[in-house]
Amino acid sequence: MKPQMRNLNLFLFLLLSLHFISVLSWKREEFRNCNQTPFCKRARARKPGSCSLLARHVIISDGDVTAKLLPKNHETSEDHHEINPLLLTLSLYQDGVLRLKIDEDPSLGPPKKRFEVPDVIVPEFSNNKLWLQRISTETIDGDTGPSSIVHLADGYEAVLRHDPFEVYVREKGSGNRVISLNSHGLFDFEPLTAKGEGEEWEESFRENTDTRPYGPQSISFDVSFYAADFVYGIPEHATSLALKPTRGPGVEYSEPYRLFNLDVFEYIHDSPFGIYGSIPFMISHGKSRGTSGFFWLNAAEMQIDVMGAGWDADSGISLPSEKTRIDTFWMSEAGIVDAFFFVGPGPKDVVRQYMSVTGMPAMPQLFATAYHQCRWNYRDEEDVEDVDSKFDEHNIPYDVLWLDIEHTDGKRYFTWDRMLFPHPEEMQRKLAAKGRHMVTIVDPHIKRDDSYNVHKEATKKGYYVKDASGNDFDGWCWSGSSSYPDMLNPEIRSWWADRFSFEHYVGSTPSLYIWNDMNEPSVFNGPELTMPRDALHYGDVEHRELHNAYGYYFHMATANGLVKRGEGKDRPFVLSRALFAGSQRHGAVWTGDNSAEWDHLRVSVPMVLTLGLTGLPFSGADVGGFFGNPEPELLVRWYQLGAYYPFFRAHAHHDTKRREPWLFGERNTELIRDAIHVRYTLIPYFYTLFREANTSGVPVVRPLWMEFPSEEATFSNDEAFMVGNSILVQGIYTEDIFSAS
Ligand code: GLC
Repeated sequence: MKPQMRNLNLFLFLLLSLHFISVLSWKREEFRNCNQTPFCKRARARKPGSCSLLARHVIISDGDVTAKLLPKNHETSEDHHEINPLLLTLSLYQDGVLRLKIDEDPSLGPPKKRFEVPDVIVPEFSNNKLWLQRISTETIDGDTGPSSIVHLADGYEAVLRHDPFEVYVREKGSGNRVISLNSHGLFDFEPLTAKGEGEEWEESFRENTDTRPYGPQSISFDVSFYAADFVYGIPEHATSLALKPTRGPGVEYSEPYRLFNLDVFEYIHDSPFGIYGSIPFMISHGKSRGTSGFFWLNAAEMQIDVMGAGWDADSGISLPSEKTRIDTFWMSEAGIVDAFFFVGPGPKDVVRQYMSVTGMPAMPQLFATAYHQCRWNYRDEEDVEDVDSKFDEHNIPYDVLWLDIEHTDGKRYFTWDRMLFPHPEEMQRKLAAKGRHMVTIVDPHIKRDDSYNVHKEATKKGYYVKDASGNDFDGWCWSGSSSYPDMLNPEIRSWWADRFSFEHYVGSTPSLYIWNDMNEPSVFNGPELTMPRDALHYGDVEHRELHNAYGYYFHMATANGLVKRGEGKDRPFVLSRALFAGSQRHGAVWTGDNSAEWDHLRVSVPMVLTLGLTGLPFSGADVGGFFGNPEPELLVRWYQLGAYYPFFRAHAHHDTKRREPWLFGERNTELIRDAIHVRYTLIPYFYTLFREANTSGVPVVRPLWMEFPSEEATFSNDEAFMVGNSILVQGIYTEDIFSAS
């Protein structure tokens, strides 16, 4: 590198570091809101009833219902798109799962194939497909023509309404609807188009420009849940368990819930803005019927509105079950419609039905369900030894000691700073001799340093994500100038997995496990601190199409690495910050960089419960709060609550004061010790619950209504929760309070 370049890089790095130090709290303006996100703004401006599609040519093909969606009247269509029919497929699966796919017709030559998210749906799911033999017809609600009806499962039917186009599930006999799509006529599908002469498709946000080579390609539609008192799910947001409405008169949130994996610095505790993970799965629950669910497998940026009462007052559309219907509106920047309807009827049924699609959670090792001690950073081997022995001295059990980024040689993952950690194997063996484990961090940004073998090999093999001009994408993260392995490609995932062999990861031993961080991916100088949407992946897939799943593939590759390392005999343990539908198969997740504040303690409960409801039972929040210094009372309360998180780890930012459990006086040490002891007493119970999750999908910690589905008072309670079906936990979230009312 030329000296001028080196200086420039150094300057940029200092500037960025300064920027991070100077930021004191969440900077709203660094992130786009819906109005600054053209697809979201366009979709939200659409009026109910503006979809003019009809279902035509409805037939059975390969055991599915297929149809073409065509605008009612090509000439007077309000849609300004080219009028190529869309292809619709409805497939039925065991346990009452209905799948709806809508895509462009490849035979009509769209400029490229739209992205379908691979490796999320488990292969067993397709074995559950039911081959349709028969469609019956019925004229619905005074329609001018018939609609198609198919038998779904005991007691349910799927309806494809032809004109107007609508899909819904209803109860047989009563005809009561359960879930429907496009009942408000908000469906829109922007087809890919080749750029015409003089067309301007670029989008800019702050100093970044997105070239958008395929123009607008978003999809949006409304989904209604019937007999629903509340809706839940769609993590990851720091918000209440029962989702607050985002549209309509007098709503508290004016932004939709955003699903876009982002490294949000000091996120706030009550907001619909997107943070590190995305699971586009929503659950509704109501006293009169029970539970249902809707999942959209799509990894592009998504925004979801929960409509408040009266949002459609002037639309002229009237639907059955007015009072207990919750309408929602789903918008995604790219991809296809690949949606799943789950009929329940109980909360545990819906979770099981969802897991039949995305897979059951991995069974953790016993040690991983115990207490973990982490901080950024345990400085050196002496520090590690000291902390480890103090746990024994104070009679506080712990199972895992964690090393953050500073243990590496200049943030080159899979290496050690040999000044600070000259004997990593011995250090791990000493811990292992006491039955303890170590976790080190491995992030996806690979330092662009020609003497670093991981970088050399990835460059030589062409394994990095490319920028819009086809060069290896170069972004800034902890390691300075960095590139990111293209985790979409199975070959690259397999190469990455091999990095964890004892031969490649020098200094690792069998008791070492892994922490994946910054895998949204975080790019300090990228748009909204992430990778540009026009970066390119394997198979010419644009980053915009798979963004929310990048971290998922990274997590998957790392977990596979540990499986390979242990020759399939050792269950992996990998903690990930970014997450997507299916992450439950690869390990644990945590709620990222929270703050040492009472409000963050409180919101950790709905965040962990929501992750559990959407398939991820193994989650927790940083005990003590990552940023800031907790008052001893808050720290103690956090341990008392955290002892019931499925994933129980204390962690802290490097600028915070040391806060190991024995540093706050005799009484507080005793209280923290008691809390950790309670967890250890309950480990057999937790382990059993993890096994239950592993076989049935039912989460380890549960909202009260999952155990008491007809107790209305529990539906919006997110301060108390159940551990399994036998322990009710009520946290204390306020200073100077000694009991919960
Ligand atoms: C990120 C992680 C945090 C970690 C830090 C340094 O902020 O969320 O847990 O300590 O990076 O690696």
